[in-house]
Amino acid sequence: MRIIVVGGFGTIGSAVVNELKGRHDILIAGRSRGDLIVDMRSEESIRSMFQKAGKFDAVVITAGNVLFEDLSQMNSQKYAVGLNDKLMGQVNCVLIGSQLIAHNGSFTLTSGILSQEPTHLSTSASMVNGAIDGFVRAAALELPNGIRINAVSPTLLVESLDLFGAFFRGYEPVPASKVALAYSKSVEGAQTGQVYRVGY
Ligand SMILES: NC(=O)c1ccc[n+]([C@@H]2O[C@H](COP(=O)([O-])OP(=O)(O)OC[C@H]3O[C@@H](n4cnc5c(N)ncnc54)[C@H](OP(=O)(O)O)[C@@H]3O)[C@@H](O)[C@H]2O)c1
Repeated sequence: MRIIVVGGFGTIGSAVVNELKGRHDILIAGRSRGDLIVDMRSEESIRSMFQKAGKFDAVVITAGNVLFEDLSQMNSQKYAVGLNDKLMGQVNCVLIGSQLIAHNGSFTLTSGILSQEPTHLSTSASMVNGAIDGFVRAAALELPNGIRINAVSPTLLVESLDLFGAFFRGYEPVPASKVALAYSKSVEGAQTGQVYRVGY
């Protein structure tokens, strides 16, 4: 398969690329570097990425930012960061990409544990992750041409402990290589409308 991995140089994305690259042609897409340059916040940028990619069979998205901040400091502009980037960025990749992807292709999105197990400062991440999971379950019912869609919802990664461990006390971290297997199951398997929880 020819697979586009948006965010393929990131912590999760590079593990996904390692898992899949021996069996498939991988195109890495990123904001600052990659085979394809894309900023998911822009529909025009997403459209340009898919047009430059040529034919493709699967899209994996391991990208998307949200703000972590105390509820009392949040406002609509701050929520818009996560809504425009991690949520609508991924949704727009599906809306635009589903017009171009091969029949029986697949989309795999990334959400995260915070929809189910919120913690301090996580109102935006918890909201966005829950929305991604809901979108995936519903979109699976309507995507045409045998196109499948799933989400991977990991807990904190071992590789991200230094960055985020202080916010996730008591959460058991999971290695990126294990998280990558859920993406493999989504891309190379047969299921659709699933949210694969990894590590919790
Ligand atoms: N790491 C964890 O423990 C963990 C756990 C659960 C869920 N998640 C979720 O998984 C996703 C990836 O996390 P990560 O830790 O792997 O992130 P990361 O290491 O920061 O990598 C993110 C990658 O996505 C690209 N990217 C960021 N914003 C983008 C945009 N608007 N358009 C296109 N590409 C963009 C980045 O490219 P540039 O560097 O070029 O900007 C980078 O290659 C995030 O949504 C995160 O919330 C992470």
